[in-house]
Amino acid sequence: MSEALKPTLHPAAVSAKVMAITSGKGGVGKTFVAANLAAALTRRGQRVLVLDADLGLANLDVVLNLHPKVTLHDVFTGKATVDQAIVKAPGGFSVLLAGSGMVEYSRLTPEVRDEFVRVLKGLLPRFDVVLLDTGAGISDVVLFAISLAGEVLIVATPEPTSLTDAYAAIKVLSMQQKRRHVRMIINQTVRPGDGRAITGQLQQVLDRFVSTDTGRPVRLIHLGDIPADPSVRDAVMRRQLLSLNNPNSPAALAIAQLANKIDETVLTPNGS
Ligand SMILES: Nc1ncnc2c1ncn2[C@@H]1O[C@H](COP(=O)(O)OP(=O)(O)OP(=O)(O)O)[C@@H](O)[C@H]1O
Ligand SMILES: [Mg+2]
Repeated sequence: MSEALKPTLHPAAVSAKVMAITSGKGGVGKTFVAANLAAALTRRGQRVLVLDADLGLANLDVVLNLHPKVTLHDVFTGKATVDQAIVKAPGGFSVLLAGSGMVEYSRLTPEVRDEFVRVLKGLLPRFDVVLLDTGAGISDVVLFAISLAGEVLIVATPEPTSLTDAYAAIKVLSMQQKRRHVRMIINQTVRPGDGRAITGQLQQVLDRFVSTDTGRPVRLIHLGDIPADPSVRDAVMRRQLLSLNNPNSPAALAIAQLANKIDETVLTPNGS
């Protein structure tokens, strides 16, 4: 990776209200969490924007059954304004979809990075929280999207492959982006307490094997668990939001709890 493209925290864009939802392994539930967390935070009175930071591959449009005519791609190519590209999702929150043309930007040039930052900065005053639905792994695009966020939420499942990939991603975030903490969401758990135990085990491995400049290891904050729940797949198949259509299902209730916690500990920690 060239020096110019090395992901670093972008001081101009970073804000606690920009949260990247990411994972080591793909298919663990990032988009499901992003969409339903957005609905739950909206219900709590937050103004929420979800941005497809996977450059068209997040499938937010599929999950939310949205068919926008204008996308971020049109904004980048000067064909539309960002306001024209923002759509309202069924949960009442706003969504900015990348559009299939954005995949062309999977090679990040400094111009594309600047444009991304410009768009994001322009949106910040209008929202209380911006969720970035990123791709999985540690590609340039993923690390760049995460570098814009003040908070990182890592989604992992209890599967060993998901955990080793989460470990690898956290290691990179700690060493390259100097993250002091990341927040963990363990999705598709089977027993209560699984997620906390898994987060504890991951922390132990990080403490042993990942040293940082400061000598202080990255701290994992366990945000919560979402149980494996057949109603999630049903909602995805019907292209409906679980939090809206089945709010009392175990997974929707868990997401509502996550939203409470994020609201209380990250967005309004002093109750302001
Ligand atoms: N708590 C859960 N219980 C049952 N199934 C789940 C749960 N969470 C996610 N799933 C299943 O996992 C599938 C993949 O979820 P999703 O598309 O959100 O993953 P992703 O991490 O965004 O994938 P990608 O890396 O491809 O972007 C969902 O369609 C759903 O069927
Ligand atoms: Mg996704």
